[in-house]
Amino acid sequence: MKPAELRAAIVTTAQAAGRSGLTPGSSGNVSARIDGGMLITPTATKYERLTPAAIVEMRADGTVVGNGLPSSEAPFHLAIYRARPEANAIVHAHSPFATVLACARMEIPAFHYMVAVAGADRILCAPYATFGTPELANNAVMALMSRKACLLANHGQIAIGDTLDAAYDLAWEVETLAAQYWRVLQIGGPKLLDADEMG
Ligand code: 13P
Repeated sequence: MKPAELRAAIVTTAQAAGRSGLTPGSSGNVSARIDGGMLITPTATKYERLTPAAIVEMRADGTVVGNGLPSSEAPFHLAIYRARPEANAIVHAHSPFATVLACARMEIPAFHYMVAVAGADRILCAPYATFGTPELANNAVMALMSRKACLLANHGQIAIGDTLDAAYDLAWEVETLAAQYWRVLQIGGPKLLDADEMG
């Protein structure tokens, strides 16, 4: 996609995240990789009012091209693009059930085979660090490792993909799994699938 199309696609993705309840209020953020940097949602903007022109361009070194205040989470978006050359898009959400588990600092184990869509037999929870900090960026990269999604302690979740649609769909899958796992915990906990089966 050309940068102009990517800007429009980021707006569409962010608005879908807001409308669908994936991330409440102005929480969460969305980015896409471009040559030498990324395009990212601006900080603290109501998604319904977002326009393609408001999407902020940043270079890989963190400098802003043109105007606009980028998401406070730009550091972890940039760190993930640096660490994961195959990632072209990132969705960060404070989705309800993923955030509940993240606030208990729990990971999502192999309670359902669909956990594997996040790239492994469990979805890890990154240790807590203040939003927007290099420490959080480092923790997120470590929790993702070679995976496509992670929880962030006392915060929310991150999903990555080779397209915006893939990252958005995965963020919803993580939220669905978190909701299912939370419910299973209410009735005595899951019987986990073994490593062979998850493989
Ligand atoms: P921004 O509005 O700065 O993107 O922050 C929202 C958020 O979810 C921080 O984690």
